[in-house]
Amino acid sequence: MSINPEHTSLPSSPSASQLDEVKQAIKSLLHQPDYDDGSAGPVLVRLAWHAAGTYCAATNTGGSNGAGMRYEKEGGDPANAGLQHARTFLEPIKKASPWITYSDLWTLAAVVAVSEMGGPNIPWQGGRTDFTDDSRVPPRGRLPDGSKGADHLRWIFYRMGFDDREIVALSGAHNLGRCHSDRSGFEGKWVNNPTRFSNTYFKLLKMHDWKNKVLANGLEQYVYVDEDLKDEDPELAEEETLMMLPTDMALLEDPSFRVWVDKFAEDKELFFRDFAAVFAKLLELGIQRDVGGRVVNEENLKDGYRSAPKKSDSSGRPEWDQNEEQVGHEAGRLKKENEQYSKKEKSRVVVKAKL
Ligand code: HEM
Repeated sequence: MSINPEHTSLPSSPSASQLDEVKQAIKSLLHQPDYDDGSAGPVLVRLAWHAAGTYCAATNTGGSNGAGMRYEKEGGDPANAGLQHARTFLEPIKKASPWITYSDLWTLAAVVAVSEMGGPNIPWQGGRTDFTDDSRVPPRGRLPDGSKGADHLRWIFYRMGFDDREIVALSGAHNLGRCHSDRSGFEGKWVNNPTRFSNTYFKLLKMHDWKNKVLANGLEQYVYVDEDLKDEDPELAEEETLMMLPTDMALLEDPSFRVWVDKFAEDKELFFRDFAAVFAKLLELGIQRDVGGRVVNEENLKDGYRSAPKKSDSSGRPEWDQNEEQVGHEAGRLKKENEQYSKKEKSRVVVKAKL
């Protein structure tokens, strides 16, 4: 695509020193003792993946450019439930460095988080812009449904332009974080240390005898309970119960996916190499660059590197969150929720210590 000479003087991307500042700030906010397993990392990775994973190659729509999740149309998609935590964690950085676009900030945060959690260094390029309205926000329903099988995974990921090997590598991100019943309806973590990036997910997928479990909400997932530990310390066994989604199990059962589960379980370096390449590809979906790396999508050429204003810090009605005016009070509400969660966790630790 050629560049309109009228726009060449517009800023196209942040400078290296500006980015270093933001990277440092992301590193400093990863430690979140009051949240989940003590790290913002996993949910930041999921934010970037869901921002980018709406891409459709056939229509060249969706993807991480634009930060469409600021709008109710995309942010309110039930598939994105819980990602307001990730966006809220990043707000202080947006406040300190208002020049950065949300779309660059969200994608960069995931890359920094993966590396800080012990994962590979993922190539990342800036220059994404923020949409000025929701007219280019993709329709809902483009993200995967954890209750489905291999055909569904192919339908979703082939649409973005990924192959079977890439689908398995991307799924290895489930080495991080957990499911929350109040977000997706599923519950639990995939590995015992969900804030350390590794290939343990693949090893456990193969190693354990996963049992189907129907949750109270009717959803089915797979669980592994250590029966020996259950006899010794039922509470600890409960805490260490691991889970897999039906889509995770599909990787084990489908012969073409299985080849890559086996390889990634055996060879951590191979998994890290593949993951870095495929996550970088994910973040670039729908982004066109010239030879100098400048983003030359229509909206970027028109408006340059347009950073959306930071959300208001003042309280608004909850239903205003993520709307066009970006008025919201996600931060206050989530802080309270996190404090309550942390109190609950601390009392659990005390009970355990007394046992
Ligand atoms: C293969 C299809 C996929 C399905 C069906 C799926 C589904 C899910 C579900 C249901 C959750 C739990 C959300 C919650 O309750 O908070 C989750 C969490 C997560 N997913 Fe996926 N996912 C898929 C692929 C991916 C990919 C490609 C990535 C990144 C490369 C990823 C990264 C994560 C992370 C890091 C979490 C943990 C988030 C947290 O701790 O808050 N997932 N996923």
